[in-house]
Amino acid sequence: MDQNEKKYRVARAALAFVPANAIVGVGTGSTANFFIDALGEQRANIRGAVASSEASAARLRALGITLFDLNEAGELPIYVDGADETTRERCLIKGGGGALTREKIVAAASRQFVCVVDDSKLVAQLGRFPLPVEVIPLARAQVARALTQLGGRPVLRAGFVTDNGNQILDVHDLIISAPGALETQINQLVGVVTNGLFANRPADVVLMSTPHGVERF
Ligand code: 5RP
Repeated sequence: MDQNEKKYRVARAALAFVPANAIVGVGTGSTANFFIDALGEQRANIRGAVASSEASAARLRALGITLFDLNEAGELPIYVDGADETTRERCLIKGGGGALTREKIVAAASRQFVCVVDDSKLVAQLGRFPLPVEVIPLARAQVARALTQLGGRPVLRAGFVTDNGNQILDVHDLIISAPGALETQINQLVGVVTNGLFANRPADVVLMSTPHGVERF
């Protein structure tokens, strides 16, 4: 089974978690896109969606799904999104698509975060995937120096601007033995908007596509 087939299957499995008449929080990326397409077929059964990126908003809109502003929608029953890495403890690295800040906001506003991945994303310890850190452009160099002091090797994501008008440093070589503590420490650097560790608020459920079916943990 190829990776796209796995993404397609796990995205459809997430539909079972969507309550009737819900406003659904929707993530960003190729797995989230499969979920959006599946949600399009169910649009009569939901009120609408809050998108975590302009790209997901455009895809939802094209399928005729009503979009809500998070400030008007209030607390959401569910948020569905992919991840770049997950542990069995459901701590994540996200932000490969650069939407980490809005993703973290919508996840925080949701009662249940259902993360949809294929089995290539499962790791024993986070950090093989470079950690995305969204920075205010003015602070880029000083944040990069601080990240180097933490043992990382920050690389500017060239030619990329986030939906919030900021830049991304992808931090290689970090040893992430305490993801919650590192998430907090990086967030406290002046000029950092968000980092891609989802450890203090991990996923509530991970659905992982394998050749033998969808596993839940
Ligand atoms: C975007 C993300 C995505 O969830 C993450 O990059 C996984 O993407 P994909 O489903 O395409 O593998 O965090 O910012």
